Amino acid sequence: MIKYNEKLNIIINHAKIYGFIYKSCEIYNGIKSIYDYGPQGIEMKNNIKKFWWNYMVKYRNNIVGIETSIFTNNIVLKASGHTKYFNEYYIINKKNNKIYIIEDLFKKILLKINNKIKKKYIINLFNKYYKNNNIYKLNKLLKKIINNNNLLKYYYWKNIKKTNLMFKTYINNINNYNKYLYLRPETAQGIYINIKNVINSNRLKIPFGIAQIGKSFRNEIISKQFIFRTKEFEQMEMQYFILPGEEKKWYKYWIKSRLNWHYYFNLGKNKYSLKKHKKLSHYSKFAIDINFKFFNKFKELEGIHFRKNYDIKNHIKYSKKNLYLFNNKTNKKYIPYIIETSLGLDRLFFSILISSLKIQNINNKKRIYLKLPYFISPIKIAILPIIKKKKIIKISKKIYNNLKYKFTTIYNDNNSIGKRYKIQDSIGTPFCITIDKNSIINNTVTIRFRDNMKQVIYNINNLNKFFKKKFNITSFFKNNII
Ligand code: GAP
Repeated sequence: MIKYNEKLNIIINHAKIYGFIYKSCEIYNGIKSIYDYGPQGIEMKNNIKKFWWNYMVKYRNNIVGIETSIFTNNIVLKASGHTKYFNEYYIINKKNNKIYIIEDLFKKILLKINNKIKKKYIINLFNKYYKNNNIYKLNKLLKKIINNNNLLKYYYWKNIKKTNLMFKTYINNINNYNKYLYLRPETAQGIYINIKNVINSNRLKIPFGIAQIGKSFRNEIISKQFIFRTKEFEQMEMQYFILPGEEKKWYKYWIKSRLNWHYYFNLGKNKYSLKKHKKLSHYSKFAIDINFKFFNKFKELEGIHFRKNYDIKNHIKYSKKNLYLFNNKTNKKYIPYIIETSLGLDRLFFSILISSLKIQNINNKKRIYLKLPYFISPIKIAILPIIKKKKIIKISKKIYNNLKYKFTTIYNDNNSIGKRYKIQDSIGTPFCITIDKNSIINNTVTIRFRDNMKQVIYNINNLNKFFKKKFNITSFFKNNII
């Protein structure tokens, strides 16, 4: 059995060698928990984005897309509560200088306490102090638990500290314009503050959604597990604006709808679970996570939150602008409620990568291949002439030119065929086409299937039809966008 750390290292190495993900600024030793996407990585990422966008925006009549700026006026994030509440509490161990997120440490300590009543009491106090930003009391609580449970010999701690997770930046002050900005910590706020612009330019009627894919930034203290938690990441978020009172219905709808979307990657339904939030973000009234089994642990993949009218209400208060909607039936203005679906693209990418990397043993030889869902593979078809003869190359290039406008296709006549298969297997190309002498005589090629390495002879004239069928996912949208 391969151990967890070994598995993670195999994934990280594979991602680098085959052009999926590199450490950012690597030649200068990199920046911790920031990454770049290589040629294969960006193709796959774009395919995932397209799948999300088509499902959430393009094929729905009442959801539109938007792209808002990353730089965010500090008042926006004051109004949204991020300046006050978007904090992480941490503590440093004096002995080894290791930093612990206070939540994680409490969880660890709780494992050592057997008395259920005592445990519950501590959890309640912890949540209360945490929610109220009360570092003084959190500190006291931690020290008390440690002392009372004789845990001191294991833990020598400094005092708890708080840090806001947002990155601050400044506009140059040549004109004495000394304003600071933030890099947005979520894409959602750009949507809320544009609600009136979007409604007015698109005549949307409730219920309606506004979606956005874009970068978000969080100054995470502990960023581990490759691209699972990073300081710069991409989110795919949709804010669904509804009538107050309809939250239960739409919350249920979006949980089901988002789960179905995830299932289509075919990574195994048993790898997903739902977990209700016990501890809510400052903006949420109720929330649930779609968790994914990363290696052997279920962890958050996507969040579905009922944000009530928290954000719009505060933007009305701070901006003093009219962001109310009007109900024609009751003749009254109101603030819409919001159900949000929020998915981390990089985290999703990671979940697919770890589930797809397959290692086989064939005749004592190791075969590695990426069993990616066809529709997100970076390259769909590889055209590989077996011999470099003029006629064969001519046919190969003709096939390549015919297919490349419809499917992401590459042409490669370098190296042995075995080596070329190995490369395509490693980047998850579902189909390789080989062209040989028979192609000249019979107008046929050989199609090799990535997953079982089977080969079939196929007529060149029918290739378009064959691949169209293989890569068509329209029926998924038809059956699932209800
Ligand atoms: N707008 C709501 C929001 O941002 P969140 O639960 O903080 O909610 C949503 O984040 C999703 O964004 C998470 O489920 C996760 O997939 C992704 N995410 C959050 N922080 C991340 C980080 N530091 N690195 C990578 N992905 C992250």
